Amino acid sequence: MSGLAQGRPGGPGAPATRRIERRLAISELAYINGTFCPIDQAKVSIEDRGFQFGDGIYEVVVSYNKRLFLLDEHMKRLRRSAAAIQLDYDFDGAPLEPIIEEGLKRCGLTEAMVYVQITRGVAPRAHPIPRGIQPTVVMTFKPLPKIPADLRQRGVSMMIAPEKRWARCFIKAVTLLPNVLAKTEAVRRGYFDAIFVTDSGEVRESTSANVFIAKDGQILTPRRDESILHGITQGFLMDCAKDLGLVVEERVVDLETLRGADEVFLSGTTVEVLAVTSIDDEPVGDGLVGPMTRRLYETFRVRVKEESDAEGLCKPSRSLPTV
Ligand SMILES: Cc1ncc(COP(=O)(O)O)c(C=O)c1O
Repeated sequence: MSGLAQGRPGGPGAPATRRIERRLAISELAYINGTFCPIDQAKVSIEDRGFQFGDGIYEVVVSYNKRLFLLDEHMKRLRRSAAAIQLDYDFDGAPLEPIIEEGLKRCGLTEAMVYVQITRGVAPRAHPIPRGIQPTVVMTFKPLPKIPADLRQRGVSMMIAPEKRWARCFIKAVTLLPNVLAKTEAVRRGYFDAIFVTDSGEVRESTSANVFIAKDGQILTPRRDESILHGITQGFLMDCAKDLGLVVEERVVDLETLRGADEVFLSGTTVEVLAVTSIDDEPVGDGLVGPMTRRLYETFRVRVKEESDAEGLCKPSRSLPTV
């Protein structure tokens, strides 16, 4: 991780280095195994197991007001993902948090999307996990993409897609082919995204967000077992719901319940809280963004502001449900 000390902005350096730093301060930035560089200069070996097998894990963290939002929760989940795939990264000896903070400073973005990936590392291609190889650590720092205002006002349309993923989607693995295919199919057919539902009619999650349902004043979200990602935003929203005196029930949600909901919304680091107003071309409830979704989104925004105005790193001021 020696690259942290290399070429700090504002530090002594040759004019060429300073020019690069100035350029990096306003553009997208990458980090790879100890070095910050422009994204197009970041390279990995073709024998990296992330490239060969999708053998790696990741997180997406955002910043608001130059502060990383719920970083601790994301880092805890990254550790859980690493443990689940027996990826031996030394999180205590080579912590990623200072690198992420440094990258955020260097890119100069107020609202950034930070992608953090750890792969098993480089080794001759063979399925068994090799011993003693160095994990590859990659990060990118980009402007946070925003949901267009009209989509926030109108809500989004979803289609139902058959759940074809593996049984361990609680691991945030880079292996995302079923999600890629389902999202592509959804967009091709004119939907915003797809919600995975099993053959037996169990609602899981969308290709990159968790699902919430409001019905008769109750809020439901699919059970956080091994079959879905335990969303950081999902956990945070459960806490936001408490602020409103609401309880979110985690349980098995069937397709019939989803289709008969008063309101449906998505939660995710980049979509935040996003209303779903139609599913398979049928309106959800009255087809408008509902009051529960609005209240939760407003509470979410207030809490984001509180957290990101606070001194120091953005940490939850209250305890979050365990994910
Ligand atoms: C499959 C899936 N579910 C849920 C989420 C939402 O998780 P989070 O709130 O931690 O971003 C994501 C985010 O990328 C995802 O990929």
